[in-house]
Parts: sequence; structure tokens; C-alpha cells
Amino acid sequence: MDYVGLESVSFGSEDLKQSRQFFTDWGLQKVGQGRDSLTFQVGNESRVLVRSDQSPKLAPKLHPDSQFRSFELGLKRQKDLEALAADLSKDRAVHEDAEGRVHFQDDAGIYVSLSVSKRLHVKPPQGIARNEPGRRARVDRISPVYAKAAPWQMGHIVFFVPNTKEAESFYIKRLGFCLSDRYVGGAGVFLRWAQRSEHHNLFLIKSPHGKAMLHHIAFEVRDQHEVFGGGLAFSNKGWATEVGPGRHPISSAYFWYFKNPHGGSIEYFCDPDFVTEQWKPHQYRVNRFSEWHLPHGIQQVDDGKKRPSLAVAVEIEKNRTHKTTETP
Ligand SMILES: [Fe+2]
Repeated sequence: MDYVGLESVSFGSEDLKQSRQFFTDWGLQKVGQGRDSLTFQVGNESRVLVRSDQSPKLAPKLHPDSQFRSFELGLKRQKDLEALAADLSKDRAVHEDAEGRVHFQDDAGIYVSLSVSKRLHVKPPQGIARNEPGRRARVDRISPVYAKAAPWQMGHIVFFVPNTKEAESFYIKRLGFCLSDRYVGGAGVFLRWAQRSEHHNLFLIKSPHGKAMLHHIAFEVRDQHEVFGGGLAFSNKGWATEVGPGRHPISSAYFWYFKNPHGGSIEYFCDPDFVTEQWKPHQYRVNRFSEWHLPHGIQQVDDGKKRPSLAVAVEIEKNRTHKTTETP
């Protein structure tokens, strides 16, 4: 089963103006707007869809406190989509829409759809090389300083579920996902959508209230500079930190989470572990969310002076480009 990744996630909204500001500040590109809808996309063209919460086009709410509605997984091939739809239809309602998207509910009640991805042509941006001891790959170049994040992809989605064992079984046996790691006692399970993939693309946590609910959606950015720069910029727009920045012990990623007014939270992350068929799943005894983190974001002292790093970086890059274009 070859998945391309998350095609879309959808939310309801009681305040489309706020939704537009939130996702624009997050660094998404607005690619569509209707009377009661907004469409945003990330660098790899997967989408965040927002509709007025009264819209009949939305899936129902999973939880009264959250406007999350559904997520869509993209497949490479039509025949895989048809095989999955045929299997799922044996024990649940499966509906195919006019665009060929197949809709159903997973065993936890979460609304999911499958489609053949239209994003196969999209290539990721080239990052700037890192300098390591004995390996200086970035020469006569500064590392970028980001005035705002531009997330490349939605790398993982995380839910509370009533029973992680049942949910794990559904995604592995019915949708072809792979096990990466678990917390003992059914506290949580990390899954990925391919043998060779990021450490987790779907993380399922035992629900404290027995109900399914979105926990967070994670947006991958290029490097730690973009996690920090993007997080600072988003924070400076007035959006509240949930937790971070910090570093996860599982997946090794840097992160920064923010509260999402549509429910759950929203995460910038970078540099996740990438695992293959050689990976051996672990049973972690301690549910340790972070190796370290700042609990409330980075507090900045407002001394009325502009922070110099961004201006300096822009100036250096401008000179570099200028010199490059002058060189015959
Ligand atoms: Fe995450």
C-alpha cells in the first residue's frame, strides 16, 4: 500500500475571519475562498479546509469542544484505493464522492477519507547544509533566519482514541500502516504509513475521557532555524504557545506547539527520525513527551529595539545574491 501522505484535514469554524488570520499567520498559502469556506495549502500542496461550522459539507464533530472534522490520506494508485474501499465496505458504511474520494469512519469513530493523490509531482525545497565537526558543508553562507515559517508538509496527525490496541489493529490490518513504537499498557502507539517513512505519521493516545478527539497536527519545516523563527513570528502575532520550543526524545524532532482555536494544537517540527523495514519497535515504559522544552514559549524582552539578527541575515543574503548575479 503506497501512501503519499496527508492530503487534507478539515475544520469547522465559527469565525472565518479568525480562521483566515490563524492559518495565514501559521505560514499557509490561501488558495481558495468562498462565502462559507477557506482553503489553504502547505508547500507540498496538501490542504487545510475550513468551512462555516453550519456547513452540511462538513463531517460531524468528534467532540463538542473541537471543530476538527476529518482527515484525508492520499494513495499513489487507484487500484489500492479500490482494494481498501472494497475491504472497508465489508463492515462499515463507505461512501464515494463525485471526485472519487472514499469516506468512512475508523474503529474509533474518526472520519477518514482516501483518495488518489494529485501531488506526486511536488518536490521539496533544498535546505541549507549543516556544518558538523570535520564536515563543513556550508561555506561562506549563513544559516537562514526566518521571518515566518512556510511549512512544507503535514507530517503527522495525532488523536486521542478510546482504545489504542483496537485503533492500532485497525490502521495496521485494514489500512496497511506499520508499527514504529508503543508505550506500554496501551498508553500510546506510534504508526507510520509506509515501511520507509518518518518515525510516525499517526500517533494514537489513550483518551482520558474515553472519546476520540484530535490532539494535534504537525507541520514539518526545513530546519531548527525555521522552528524557532516561525514560532517566534507566530507568537509575536499573538497566538498562544501550548508548549515549546523543545525536543522530543521519541523521533528526535525539535518542536513548538501552539493552541489551535479550531481544536487541539498545531505543531512546527523538523528533523524527525526516518525509519525503514530494519527498524525494531520499542515498548517505552515512560511516557516522556519531551527531552526538554520551554513551557510557555520564548519570552522576549520588549526594550523597544529591533532584534538585529533578521535584518543582518537579510542584508548578507542580499549581498550574496547581488554578487552572484554580477559574476559572469
Ligand atoms: Fe507531534
